[in-house]
Amino acid sequence: MTINDRINFGSKLGVVAAAAGSAVGLGNIWRFPYELGQNGGGAFLIIYLLCVILLGMPIMLSEFIIGRTGQANAAGSFKKLAPGQKWWIVGLMGVFTSFLIMGFYVVVSGWTLEYIVQAVSNQFINKDTATLSRVFADFSTGTLRPIIWITVFMIITATIVLAGVQKGIERSSKFLMPLLLIIIIALGIRAVTLPGGIDGLRFLFKPDFGKITSEVVLSAMGQAFFSLSLGMGCMITYGSYISKKTNLSKTVVQVTMLDTVIAILAAIAIFPAVFSLGINPAQGPELVFITLPNVFAHMPGGYVWAILFFVLLCVAALTSTISLLEVIVAYFVEEYKFHRITIILLATAGILFLGVLSSLSLGVWKDVQIFGMGFFSLFDSLTSKILMPVGGLLIAVFTGWKLNKDSMLEELSGGGQFKTNFFKFYIFLLRFVAPVAISLIILNQLGLSQWLGF
Ligand code: PFF
Repeated sequence: MTINDRINFGSKLGVVAAAAGSAVGLGNIWRFPYELGQNGGGAFLIIYLLCVILLGMPIMLSEFIIGRTGQANAAGSFKKLAPGQKWWIVGLMGVFTSFLIMGFYVVVSGWTLEYIVQAVSNQFINKDTATLSRVFADFSTGTLRPIIWITVFMIITATIVLAGVQKGIERSSKFLMPLLLIIIIALGIRAVTLPGGIDGLRFLFKPDFGKITSEVVLSAMGQAFFSLSLGMGCMITYGSYISKKTNLSKTVVQVTMLDTVIAILAAIAIFPAVFSLGINPAQGPELVFITLPNVFAHMPGGYVWAILFFVLLCVAALTSTISLLEVIVAYFVEEYKFHRITIILLATAGILFLGVLSSLSLGVWKDVQIFGMGFFSLFDSLTSKILMPVGGLLIAVFTGWKLNKDSMLEELSGGGQFKTNFFKFYIFLLRFVAPVAISLIILNQLGLSQWLGF
């Protein structure tokens, strides 16, 4: 694709749907609830929301501005906006981050395929929590079956990305998102009315500030970046496909709200059931996969709900992996003139390799550890807790300190049509709040703050 024939997202809904399709995914329904469960509940939720508002929204807006002004992939956009300088490395770092995220994301995406099959063959019925946990453990620590699902899932992702931006991504996102919302609401209603379900809501909405540690704060910030697909050039790449007529700040508000509402609804569907069934809220990555099958077993029409849920979870994962792969593809096509199909095949092979490493690290290779973590946790922690926040920090600094403010205002106001009265506050967040907060949170966790004497 050259600069002039870049395909744009067709309609307004298309832009929001595609960006929301990237944001809404396993991060909301699988990762958010278990991170919240491991980090003490309500207090985590409050810090998460603060991170979304003070860091996530301004950084998403900055990514859109960089992409739409630069009209290129994550690294290319920086090259256009800061020629002759090294800022493009931030984009390159994003391409690398995409790759690492894919390395564990496809494993969980593969699990959703397995659970579609289990739902269709009515496997959840009459099973207690202990049995469901065992079934999950046997499957996820196995060798061949998870790898087959990873491969199937990657083939689907690659095929859609091959079909191109507008056709593939926009169409699939547009009607599936509302459906996902309806199913999660139905699940939430069932979960809240389970006996003892109210304790789950208390855990979620009654913060215990005594539980806040530097680890909790870092996890909440990492989750905000992960869930909103920020700090690694994804929204820069998508921003470059957004038409000049679209109001960027409104798009940011819509995408962020949808993403946050879906994460909170997922938690409302899960924690009441967790407490009602006596599951440990700090269970970890298997939380959703053992809790929700239990809820389905207690629901009228549970068979159908279960199938619908896992199909949609899989599709939500798919609209995110599409965006991750697109970051890599757009970069190699535009910067190195690769054919789309060549880079899609190469990237798919590389991702499959990482996916196999991650999957095996939960089973036969669980003793292979780097920094005390297996590959799965390593890819997860390194991306969400370090690479994405650092990428976000650099994007904030770039747009806050470096980029010409008149051209940013022009981009935001769409030539005077849209409101920009938040501009000063936005720049303040980029210049001071985001860099200081992100640095302190990371340094604090690394223990460097003590070492440096503050
Ligand atoms: N935001 C996605 C989720 O919550 O599942 C994950 C993700 C997608 C992260 C795309 C980063 C990205 F570029």
